[in-house]
Amino acid sequence: MSEPIVIRCRENGPYVLEGPVKVVDHLGNAFTIPAGKNNVALCRCGHSKNRPFCDGSHRDCGFQAAEVAPADVGERGA
Ligand code: FES
Repeated sequence: MSEPIVIRCRENGPYVLEGPVKVVDHLGNAFTIPAGKNNVALCRCGHSKNRPFCDGSHRDCGFQAAEVAPADVGERGA
């Protein structure tokens, strides 16, 4: 059985997906992911000009998100 995909919630930043992933739009068409990238950062602040990917705009828009999972639930990622 394969390991689950890890989605890391960056503090005040994007969701980072680790490992080979395919990101598709609402029609099922795949976005191009730069060759050789192992991590993909998805915008969750809504300000990226390259959505669904993060372009760093979260740093300038005051986006805040620092959710913390309960320590006794689930496994911590690598
Ligand atoms: S989370 Fe980085 S630009 Fe939105």
